[in-house]
Amino acid sequence: MTFPIVVLISGSGSNLQALIDQSLQGNLNVEICAVISNKADAFGLQRAQKAGIPTHTLDHKSFDSREAFDEQLKLIIDQYQPRLVVLAGFMRILTETFAQHYEGRMLNIHPSLLPKYKGLNTHQRAIDAGEKEHGVSVHFVSAELDAGAVILQASCPIEKTETADTLASKIHSYEHIIYPLAVKWFSEERLAYKQGTAVLDGKILAESGVMYHPDLI
Ligand code: GAR
Repeated sequence: MTFPIVVLISGSGSNLQALIDQSLQGNLNVEICAVISNKADAFGLQRAQKAGIPTHTLDHKSFDSREAFDEQLKLIIDQYQPRLVVLAGFMRILTETFAQHYEGRMLNIHPSLLPKYKGLNTHQRAIDAGEKEHGVSVHFVSAELDAGAVILQASCPIEKTETADTLASKIHSYEHIIYPLAVKWFSEERLAYKQGTAVLDGKILAESGVMYHPDLI
């Protein structure tokens, strides 16, 4: 039996593509029931359509409030009865009601070694701060922005010549490995959310989650 998931995007959808590819290659036993974007021109919608996945666009600008948008989004998501909601570059701040509704069954990927560099422009901020390393985190979503329990991180050194673009491209290649892996763990019921913590194979994970290593695959 496959595991129904819904993916939310706002842009390119390369993480969505990684999930599609891993499913097609038989490494990930999930069914992507729908892809929802808050932007009509998100390239990820084309990726989904090419893969035969139903798509929805819900333009946040046509709603009077964040609450009204999230309520409609919830209705669309729930018609698919997903076991997991996957935020893949979905650039919206969520209401507490929405986050609570999906507590323990919604993941996000954020391009920093959380808890460092929540929010936007993470690559440039890490360079400007003189960091020696940077990375990406997959975490359960809580009501607070980029603050839920961390599951998996991957890191890379920041070279002297690094720009935000070169760093983003390095980090992206890690994203496409660790996000499908975390979704796989969840779909296999190896990963769970208990009382605000991420639990893998029955063990509560450290605050920074598991550090990615090729042996994990
Ligand atoms: C990814 O780098 C992801 O980490 C980031 O948006 C990008 C989406 O790329 N997410 C956030 O910044 C969330 N705070 P994609 O559309 O190609 O998957």
